[in-house]
Amino acid sequence: MSNIKFYKEQNLPLEMHKVRIVQKLNLLPIEERLSAIKEAGNNTFLLRNKDVYLDMLTDSGTNAMSDLQLGAMMIADDSYAGSETFYRLEKAAQKFFGKKYFLPAHQGRACEHLLAKTLVKQGDVDPMNYHFTTTKTHIQLCGGSVEEIYSDEAIKLTSDCPFKGNVDLVKLENLINSVGVEHIPFVRIEMGTNLIGGQPVSLENVKAVSEICKKYNIMLMIDASLITDNLYFNKVREQLCENMSVAEIARAISDCADIIYFSARKLGSAKGGGIVLNSKEIYDQMKNLIPIYEGFLTYGGMSTREMEAVAIGLEEATDIDMISHGPEFIAEFGRILQSHGVPIVTPTGGLGLHLNAREIVGHIPGEQFQAASLCSAIYIVSGARGMERGTLSEEKNADGSEHIASCELVRLALPRRVFTLSQVRYIADRICWLYDNRHLIGGLRFTEEPKVMRFFIGRLEAVNDWQEKLVAKFKEDFGESL
Ligand SMILES: Cc1ncc(COP(=O)(O)O)c(C=O)c1O
Repeated sequence: MSNIKFYKEQNLPLEMHKVRIVQKLNLLPIEERLSAIKEAGNNTFLLRNKDVYLDMLTDSGTNAMSDLQLGAMMIADDSYAGSETFYRLEKAAQKFFGKKYFLPAHQGRACEHLLAKTLVKQGDVDPMNYHFTTTKTHIQLCGGSVEEIYSDEAIKLTSDCPFKGNVDLVKLENLINSVGVEHIPFVRIEMGTNLIGGQPVSLENVKAVSEICKKYNIMLMIDASLITDNLYFNKVREQLCENMSVAEIARAISDCADIIYFSARKLGSAKGGGIVLNSKEIYDQMKNLIPIYEGFLTYGGMSTREMEAVAIGLEEATDIDMISHGPEFIAEFGRILQSHGVPIVTPTGGLGLHLNAREIVGHIPGEQFQAASLCSAIYIVSGARGMERGTLSEEKNADGSEHIASCELVRLALPRRVFTLSQVRYIADRICWLYDNRHLIGGLRFTEEPKVMRFFIGRLEAVNDWQEKLVAKFKEDFGESL
């Protein structure tokens, strides 16, 4: 909580919770970390978690759950059909978003699958502030394409713009006029944005986009997977929201949208997903797909225990103490790195701390995956696994050349209420060391490259022996220390 002042120390983000269940962690010696990352094909998705000290890959399904969530899991009604658990979750989703209909799905991308199948047809264009990997793939699989209409600030990695996730309204109207409303089934706003550094969207921008959508009779869809952090930024950075409660801000955002979907692995701090909307017609169309792809209508592929936890998680997402934890820890992490000159995305956003890999390892050619190389190096020197969010996460160009990403980032996610401040200080310290030794980091090349979403399970190797040299320098500086 940022409004608690310290007497002697500089203000620190103070946890408004206590730890009651812990999980033991393991920090391997650096030689074993080197073997582990090689075995994982230099892809942090392929590391075994027993070899990871701080799992900063994602917040997806990894946020700490509250006592109330764990308690609620014990009252789950496991009925295949008509489960009482479903009605509790439906009520919680209706309360949070204020929409009439709720459809359950097993996670966020399952919602995207159902929405794309129902709404996108061959040749359609879907404007959005920024794409997410699975969103784009589902739209493309249905014959549509994605057009990003982010503001110029969005990809300026160093900025003081408080809402870099905003839609550029002029670009949106120009796009509608050039493509034609008949080819635009919906405009999508991702709140907040994943691939450009967890940057938020203002309520004012959502309202303005909604007005444009109404003018052209186009639906507005909101991806609320990352709305928890976004709500925090609306509350602390936006004058319009100053005197609103978090629940009121969530409702004001929701009121602007026709359809909202979310990954409950993120919003809800459990595992699952859901879609809310007021249109009976679209609800009926999607309803028919749920038993085919997800499960019966009253569980949609989710475990009923997780559904109970999501219902409580939605309620807790309106608690400022809960939603401030991630962004405030990330800001503190960023402060330490910036004081050492490490290039990061500013202002710090939600979800995780984002390192500007293009600045840090600019000596590595773009085709050798700057962010992925940095990610591999971070694991070697710290045992922490982050996620590449750059060229490797992009699809190749049609001619087979690399599509160099507009932002080349490494994300170190801070799942909510999981890590302590000393763990944040540890990883910050190792990154500062790595920054001072960045000239030792080299590139990667594919040894196995899947055609679609290659970042998940693709395998790579170092282009030379830079990893061994990095280990040697680490040992020189840290001696026997892990
Ligand atoms: C903005 C956004 N949308 C959709 C998804 C997909 O959700 P899931 O991982 O639950 O399939 C994610 C996951 O990271 C996300 O960040």
